[in-house]
Amino acid sequence: MITDKMTQALNKQMNAELYSAYLYLAMASWASTQGLRGASNWFFVQSREEMTHVWRFYNYVSSQGSQVILDTVAKPPADFETIAKAFAETLVHEQAVTAIINALIGIAHEENDNATAIFLQWYVNEQVEEEESVGEIIDQINLAGPVGGGMLLIDRELGTRVFKMPVGLVAAVA
Ligand code: FEO
Repeated sequence: MITDKMTQALNKQMNAELYSAYLYLAMASWASTQGLRGASNWFFVQSREEMTHVWRFYNYVSSQGSQVILDTVAKPPADFETIAKAFAETLVHEQAVTAIINALIGIAHEENDNATAIFLQWYVNEQVEEEESVGEIIDQINLAGPVGGGMLLIDRELGTRVFKMPVGLVAAVA
């Protein structure tokens, strides 16, 4: 069982994860219109991963006997100007998500809720990975320059990213 305060905070985070999925889906379509099919693939896979983040929260809140309350998802931007700016925005967004996860852990501790604090640890690790991988892509784009052959190679590399459904999550939602 988790407290009402904790449930509300987790529901709010689910909305933030849904927005992340929405944001990256918008970036995927924008990148596609720029001829950056690899980047489009990368953002599309990212969007799908964000949905798995939503489902992890869904499963956890449900397993605690609490109700998932969904709210309006904010409208993401449609124009990201350049691929460098799109990834810069991605990093800023992920850093903001990291801060919210840390705040959630703070609430879990205030509520003496060790189960939720442990559950959230998965997200702490995930945020480290996400910030690192986006940071590497930004470094590559900066080294290559945003147009020309270098960007073509980076785009090809981004096109190799494959979505993998977490095995345990499949079982939990099936
Ligand atoms: Fe759900 Fe990108 O953090």
